[in-house]
Amino acid sequence: KLPYAEPYRIKMIEEIRQSSREERVAWLKDADYNLFNLKSSQVYIDLLTDSGTGAMSDSQWGAMMTGDESYAGSRSFQALYDTVNKITGFPYLLPTHQGRAAENVLFSVLVKDGDVIPGNSHFDTTKGHIEFRKAHAVDCTIDEAFDIENDHPFKGNIDLEKLEAIYKEYPKEQIPFCLITITCNTSGGQPVSLENIKAVKSLSDHYGIPIYFDSARYAENAYFIKTREAGQADRTIKEICKEIFSYGEGMTMSSKKDGLVNIGGFIALRNEEVFQKASNFTIIYEGFITYGGLAGRDMNALAVGLDEATEFDYLHSRISQVEYLGNKLIEYGIPVQKPIGGHAVFVDALKFLPNVPRAEYPAQTLGLELYKEAGIRGVEIGTLLADRDPETRENRYPKLELLRLAIPRRTYTNNHMDYIAAGLKNVFDRREDIKKGYNITWEPAILRHFTVKLEEA
Ligand code: F0G
Repeated sequence: KLPYAEPYRIKMIEEIRQSSREERVAWLKDADYNLFNLKSSQVYIDLLTDSGTGAMSDSQWGAMMTGDESYAGSRSFQALYDTVNKITGFPYLLPTHQGRAAENVLFSVLVKDGDVIPGNSHFDTTKGHIEFRKAHAVDCTIDEAFDIENDHPFKGNIDLEKLEAIYKEYPKEQIPFCLITITCNTSGGQPVSLENIKAVKSLSDHYGIPIYFDSARYAENAYFIKTREAGQADRTIKEICKEIFSYGEGMTMSSKKDGLVNIGGFIALRNEEVFQKASNFTIIYEGFITYGGLAGRDMNALAVGLDEATEFDYLHSRISQVEYLGNKLIEYGIPVQKPIGGHAVFVDALKFLPNVPRAEYPAQTLGLELYKEAGIRGVEIGTLLADRDPETRENRYPKLELLRLAIPRRTYTNNHMDYIAAGLKNVFDRREDIKKGYNITWEPAILRHFTVKLEEA
């Protein structure tokens, strides 16, 4: 048997630079201990996000050159339409400049004051767009998702009892849709099974509620269905994707993830009336309906990227790399969310740094320690992100305090993964000595994690 290797080779490289610990300590102070304030040149390996940070293929760069920049009805729009239609089966398409723009346009049509939108751990911008309209996002994720040691294969699943309780509590007029996020980013890049999607669909049909998908990482979700769900192994990724979307009325997409491009998004829909209403909002917020904030070349590259991202060989290489890092960390005894998710490894900071008080932001502290140690930038998914209760202004402590190490697509090698694991292990070896975290010196009224300023406690 031969060892596994990537189904691609590298044609272009970008230099990245190591720095010294002294440099990094000084840069962090200047950055007010907020990793978002670092310059990318101060980071050696950047795991802040897998969004828009991946590498395009030579076919995608080729498609960039042949983009059609016509204002209306461009060939590039047609190419994107054909690919989206082939993969999803949805007959209507509206491009947008990124995922949250798709949410803004679609929710302008569907969500009103007082509405309730159940789903599986809505992403922050999604929740933001719901709450901004004075509606509520209700998390119906299964309880297993919040126990990092539980290796349930589909921790993104929706709990049908929690969902039905919402359907019984509120009239159908107040529930515009149920939103299924595939994969579920907030709970650790965890997939939703086809069986669960079907069950949610039949329950929702019974109560007359449509289903929409937040599809940023739908291809990674399909990979997990193929490799983990009974009876799915012999199907292609594209067949599985088509079936997933057959249960929905529409989808929002951040193309910066499974579109394999650096910027872009779209909405795909089944219903003509929703499409017509959404078209008006697209024109106001994004641009004409055949480009929605994207250049023709961007749509061309996206059409190719969507096709590449729904091929098994690509997905296997991508997800195996994330798993490779996760398994290394597990080998070192580092507490991570199990099973390893599709786009990131999530480290449990409460278990990793038990001596840092909860009020001093252990996950942020861990992120800062890892940066000082090795020049690696992760992101806090913990109390800073969870923000304050709007009424009491007290910190909202989430169930889990995590450091997310998101892996960009086709960007780093497994040598980088070894380096990341070694860096984190060095911090782990001296975890008992880390007893202090950070205090806030300044924060904005909302979405504080992006701009918060901290000092050493
Ligand atoms: N939905 C999910 C599940 C996401 O993870 C994101 C973005 C969005 C919607 C919004 O898309 O960024 O194109 O506007 N997630 C990024 C992340 C930012 O780092 O996880 P966008």
